[in-house]
Amino acid sequence: MENRDAELVEKIMVLKKKRNAVILVHNYQLGEIQDIADFVGDSLELSQKAAKTGADVIVFCGVHFMAETASILCPDKIVLLPDINSGCRMAGMITAEQLRAKKKEHPQAVVVCYVNSTAEVKAESDVCCTSANAIRVVESLNTQEILFIPDQYLGHYISDRTGRKMILWPGFCPTHVRIRPERIKELRQEYPQAQVVVHPECTPEVIALADAVLSTGGMCRYARRGEVREMVVGTEIGIIHRLKKENPGKRFIPVSEQAICPHMKLITLEKVLWSLEEMSPEVKVPEAIRLRAKAAVDRMLEVS
Ligand code: 13P
Ligand code: SF4
Repeated sequence: MENRDAELVEKIMVLKKKRNAVILVHNYQLGEIQDIADFVGDSLELSQKAAKTGADVIVFCGVHFMAETASILCPDKIVLLPDINSGCRMAGMITAEQLRAKKKEHPQAVVVCYVNSTAEVKAESDVCCTSANAIRVVESLNTQEILFIPDQYLGHYISDRTGRKMILWPGFCPTHVRIRPERIKELRQEYPQAQVVVHPECTPEVIALADAVLSTGGMCRYARRGEVREMVVGTEIGIIHRLKKENPGKRFIPVSEQAICPHMKLITLEKVLWSLEEMSPEVKVPEAIRLRAKAAVDRMLEVS
């Protein structure tokens, strides 16, 4: 670690204590941010941690919808997002107004909403899911018609695995579509012993080539297995830092070096420090939306 970074980290740790703050970090964040975390995890694990924390302040190092979920679950806490511009491209692909119009077309449908969505969209939905619990959530539903938003590829994958027909919204993750099936075929030739693990936001052509389809938290658990010595990783490359750190001696090969979520990379050590100094930018979901969104998030957590 450079001297400058060490100084920043020291200042962050002092302020964190003074503010009674917890630092929650997503698996795609820069390595230096993962290294200062109280907890690093996937969307589901981070929302569960947020729900249980005894801290007064949550510094959320992830994207906007993740900080909103923390605010939905913990209205009495201050939720800081060190860069307010760190949105999620997929979450921006459906608005509450568009969802209301779609619901009118399918009045009987149960709306299952991927957690990568705004609080307003969650407030219009019946139940949320993450990539870690999506199959369990859909299997728990006793209904004929399901409208799944906003990720068409995650929706396609769940529909395939559960045999449930679903109406899909045409959203997608621009980072995960950079992961191409042709490259996986090449890497299988190059690393015949490797396990190929991909995220369910990948296209069906990529998913068809994988040994396992997992959330980012699921990938971290999979990598710890004794029989896994080499792993081809089909997701955002920030996770490689954690995989290597937790599994010295194992080899992790990203399918695409271009699979970078630019929003996840906006958070830096400086911005974490500034957020704790200024107690800003804060993410706070207005109460009327929060209560409706919370019903959908709570329903998900009951199933998880
Ligand atoms: P996970 O919930 O698997 O961490 O995924 C979040 C995400 O944004 C994937 O692009
Ligand atoms: Fe959103 Fe894709 Fe970034 Fe995940 S990787 S936060 S889905 S834009």
